This record gives sequence, structure tokens and C-alpha cells, in this order.
Amino acid sequence: MTFEVLSLFPEAFSGFLESSIVARAIAKQAVQVQISNFRDYTKNKHNCVDDYPYGGFPGMVIQAQPIYDALSSVLQRGNAPVIYFTPQGRKLNQQVLEHYSSYERVILLCGHYKDIDQRVRDLCVSDELSLGDYVLSGGELAAMIFIDGLSRLIPGVLGDIESANSDSFSTPKLGFPCYTRPDNFMGLGVPDVLLSGNHKAIDDWAQQAAYALTKTRRPDLLSD
Ligand code: ADE
Repeated sequence: MTFEVLSLFPEAFSGFLESSIVARAIAKQAVQVQISNFRDYTKNKHNCVDDYPYGGFPGMVIQAQPIYDALSSVLQRGNAPVIYFTPQGRKLNQQVLEHYSSYERVILLCGHYKDIDQRVRDLCVSDELSLGDYVLSGGELAAMIFIDGLSRLIPGVLGDIESANSDSFSTPKLGFPCYTRPDNFMGLGVPDVLLSGNHKAIDDWAQQAAYALTKTRRPDLLSD
């Protein structure tokens, strides 16, 4: 799976790409991440990418041309969906990640400042995704979340032990409470069944605990 990221702040990705499961997926060549800075595609002498919005609104808007040229260059290497991260997009969830896990390549466009010029969205963007009803400074964190969530769905990225099957939302239900050693911590124990060695009883407990948690915290997930 190749993620082509377009961002004004490539350095924002460095710690993320060097850590944990994503770093391992890159090392195994299950995942490739290429980052282009669309500032490199400007045609003015100061490499300026933004300008005042028409209409006199506050804030700055990223011009269409550098993004359009950067996207054209990436698309020349092969077609792929272009995802723009914005609070105006549809909400990112596990189903959306599963949908994109069937692609070999996706292009992730990160905006900044007030927004990007609408015309590049109209011309080039195939999907718009939001993390939630709040405004971030840019799309970089959203792109990292997308890369992280999708990488763990790629076969071979997670080991058997870490398998995504028992993750929250894969059923779609929240996960169950997890415990590890010691069996007594600050006077708090572990449900007896987890120490029983009875796999059937343990599976039943996990199902019921996940269901109970989902019912209290996210009943909306049970109504579909
Ligand atoms: N960019 C700025 N805010 C965002 C959000 N809530 N989700 C995705 N991208 C964003």
C-alpha cells in the first residue's frame, strides 16, 4: 500500500513514520509513504502558497496552482483516489478505512490555514474526510491517523498476537477491558474467569463485556 502525502509540513510525519507498527510496516515493505511538499510547485519567487480570500474574509487560503501541479505530478505516476482532510468531510470510521484498504495507492492531501482554494477540491478531490467536529490547524494529524488505522488492516502488518480482529469497531462493537500481570494491583483484582483457563467461558465473558460497554457508551453502534 502506498500513501502519497501532499503537505506543507513534511517534517510533521517524521517521528510518526519512525515509530511502532507503521515503522515496522514500512520496514517490511507492506507500506510506503511518499511525502511531497506542494510549496516546491509554486511559480513565484518567494515560494508563497497562500493568498487573501476573495470576499474579504479573515485568514489565508492556499492557492489552487501549487496543489494542482503537485497532484498532477503524483497522478502521472498512476491513478489513485485523492482524499482531502477537512472538518467539512464525512466522518472517518473503521468502515471507511476498510474501504480504502482494498486500494494499492491513495493520495492524502493536507490543507492548512483557513482552507485550500475550492476549485482544486472540485477538480481533483475524490473524497473528503473529517476526524470529528473540531478544527485542527491542518490535515497532517488526520493523514497520520488514516495511515495508522489503515496500515494495521494490511495483511502481515500485525502479528497473530496483535490481530486486529478483536479491536474495537471490527465487529462493530467496542473492545472489552484488558488485564495483564500482576493479578492484584493496588487491591484491584482481575475477573476470575480470565484466570480459569476455560477458553469458551473466557470468549463468552469477552463478548458480554464488549456488548455491555457498547450498550452504555455507544448504543448508536448497536442500532445498525
Ligand atoms: N483539518 C482541520 N480540521 C480537521 C478535522 N477535524 N478533520 C480532518 N481534517 C481537518
